Amino acid sequence: MSQDKLWGGRFNQPTNKFVEEFTASINFDQRMYRYDISGSIAHCQMLAKQGIISSEESAIIIAGLEGILADIDAGNFEFKVSLEDIHMNIEARLTERIGLVGGKLHTARSRNDQVALDIRLYLRDEVAAVLNYLDQLQESLLGQAEANLDTIMPGFTHLQTAQPILFSHHMLAYFEMFKRDAGRFADCAARLNYLPLGAGALAGTTFPIDREYVAELLGFSGVTRNSLDSVSDRDFAIEFCAASSILMMHLSRLSEELILWSTADFNFIELTDAFCTGSSIMPQKKNPDVPELVRGKTGRVYGNLLSLLTLMKSLPLAYNKDMQEDKEPLFDTIDTVKGSLKIFAEMIALMQVKVPQMRQAAGRGYSTATDVADYCVRKGLPFRQAHEVVGKTVRYCIEKNKEIDELTLDEFRAFSPLIDSDIYAHVTLEASVNARSATGGTARVAVEREIARARAERQK
Ligand code: ARG
Repeated sequence: MSQDKLWGGRFNQPTNKFVEEFTASINFDQRMYRYDISGSIAHCQMLAKQGIISSEESAIIIAGLEGILADIDAGNFEFKVSLEDIHMNIEARLTERIGLVGGKLHTARSRNDQVALDIRLYLRDEVAAVLNYLDQLQESLLGQAEANLDTIMPGFTHLQTAQPILFSHHMLAYFEMFKRDAGRFADCAARLNYLPLGAGALAGTTFPIDREYVAELLGFSGVTRNSLDSVSDRDFAIEFCAASSILMMHLSRLSEELILWSTADFNFIELTDAFCTGSSIMPQKKNPDVPELVRGKTGRVYGNLLSLLTLMKSLPLAYNKDMQEDKEPLFDTIDTVKGSLKIFAEMIALMQVKVPQMRQAAGRGYSTATDVADYCVRKGLPFRQAHEVVGKTVRYCIEKNKEIDELTLDEFRAFSPLIDSDIYAHVTLEASVNARSATGGTARVAVEREIARARAERQK
């Protein structure tokens, strides 16, 4: 055989050039080189411990692999499409460096369990990185919550002014969302942390390997329990993309709010100049490109999840070449999620909150109408009737172009004689906010409790 193929033995003809290119994964799977090498070193240590290769051979192979790692790190490694993927590129180079003994590394192993191992090792580190970025974003949100305990904004339903809330409370809503996301990623990390190596091509291996030893060397919680499942399973990649999709959905909602709040119409916040761009024609423009892009990137992450689910659908056991298509959607998701989190953590920390504008908006739109209704209920009126009374009051306000707290006592009493002069103490923005003090409410005391709780949890 004239080709450099590691599997050339049974072939009479060289591979068609385009087929070679078409079937290769080296252009994208090279990013796993570090994990391919650490997996190989652990495998090699185990082969020596079990007497499958000698300790001298193992030492030569490991030194060769470490040399290759240094070469790739330094950019001194030529990846060859003819060698198809990262596994064969490294193995071929190993034999070039140390001679025929390099060929012993692949004893008791197949690329099928090797690739499953590499993706798990790689993803394990990437999940840790995502968790770290998530933590930074939560810290930024918590910081804004702490800084804005006196900032009152309108809360919305249907994007219509509903009730006044603390801006802190709004920030903590996102804090909770990202906390659940962190839980999902941690869960994904725990489930993926099992060693698939030792499954061989699909059925196991005839050599007396010690999988538990390899698992221990590589920091896995244990070994996978079925060789067919070990090489067929990509649940961990799907779980990562599913957790990422939910996370991006949360980021897209925050994006949308930042975009709205930055408009001249809302004017609630100002994003720092460094995170915005201008318009080439309209000199006044400052566009919130970062949140817009993140909102847009949510789509590609959903798409990646759908790609993986569709890729794995109906595949017979065990390995199929289709599965090589798992990497690009997974890698793209990792890059997108990390980038989005990193940029958001900084942008939220630097976001300027326009306190007077928020307060002014909170005072518009009859936002304390529910408080008047609750007041009437406390004076003995059934809630449904109170709702009706206040509904009429608001209609009157609209006609007279007055806010609720601008009504005279006589005007109030025209709608219900139950209303006394103490009503004014109930319809201020502060009173409305602070009346909602049960756990999870927007009252300052309740929000302070949640901030303290979040701080205590993060100290752990
Ligand atoms: N490049 C392959 C992939 O990413 C590695 C496994 C190849 N196994 C095989 N039997 N062709 O899926």
